[in-house]
Amino acid sequence: MSTTRARRRGAYCINPLSYLLVDGIPDELHVNHRSFVLTATSSRYIDAAMGLADCFKKDVVAPPFEELHGATLFHESMESVDADFHKMANEALEVHDNFGIPIPLREFSDLFKGIQSVTYCCGASGNDAFARALVKDFPHINCTVLVDPKMIGTKQQADDGIVSYVAGDIFNFIPPAQTVVLMLVLHFLTDEDCVKILAQCRKAIPSREDGGKVIIGDIVIDYSPGPLLETHLLMDIVFMTMTKGRQRERIGLTGLCSRSFVLAAFGPGTIGGVCPGSNG
Ligand SMILES: C[S@@+](CC[C@H](N)C(=O)[O-])C[C@H]1O[C@@H](n2cnc3c(N)ncnc32)[C@H](O)[C@@H]1O
Repeated sequence: MSTTRARRRGAYCINPLSYLLVDGIPDELHVNHRSFVLTATSSRYIDAAMGLADCFKKDVVAPPFEELHGATLFHESMESVDADFHKMANEALEVHDNFGIPIPLREFSDLFKGIQSVTYCCGASGNDAFARALVKDFPHINCTVLVDPKMIGTKQQADDGIVSYVAGDIFNFIPPAQTVVLMLVLHFLTDEDCVKILAQCRKAIPSREDGGKVIIGDIVIDYSPGPLLETHLLMDIVFMTMTKGRQRERIGLTGLCSRSFVLAAFGPGTIGGVCPGSNG
């Protein structure tokens, strides 16, 4: 029974937040966020977050999570410390990255119009829902998914020919395409690493005149007060605690792209588009 019908009949029903924590919701957008909530409330995360202030004072490079556990999130080093946590954190990553995909594709459809080929970076060698949804909405796009060589073949790949896979380290090579998509990639990384990746993007795409473009999908912190800002700041804390990255403001992203790129378009909060400069 739907929530509205249940309310009308005076029956108990799940509230909107609980809706995100159960299976069996007949809605193609629905994703069960159990693993995300359990990871973000685990003692491994909370204990690490308690070290964030010290980390700023000491100006340490490693994130508190690494300092405390001696292992890197999502990395095999964490698997050997705690295989159950590693599995749950990877499920949480998938849940987070695959939630609400139709929204940016709809809200920023202009960004994707006219694109012939895409390299989608840091795929998970499995479902790769964003890449597949992109091709579903824009069927003329030829999409290559770049997958970490360690990950390729670790998951069952859908044998539908919608996307093709290439194994490679994003720091060394990005398969050429008219557009490179960096969806939820830069927020894991230091500014220096982002600059290295953007340099690889520049090599992978044609000039601006020939339609070369890099699309960045990430939170863009906007300080207008409200629940969206709270969410962005909480995600900033999560990323500063667990990874070497953070959520960036528009100016921070512009800074990473300076010299090589000009900012082309921004949406209200969660996606930025950049394209190479006129000399690109
Ligand atoms: C960056 S996130 C995934 C974001 C992804 N674009 C998505 O929306 O699901 C984590 C993924 O990055 C991949 N990855 C990490 N380091 C990589 C590297 N150096 N080159 C290519 N892929 C990498 C990991 O294997 C993992 O699947």
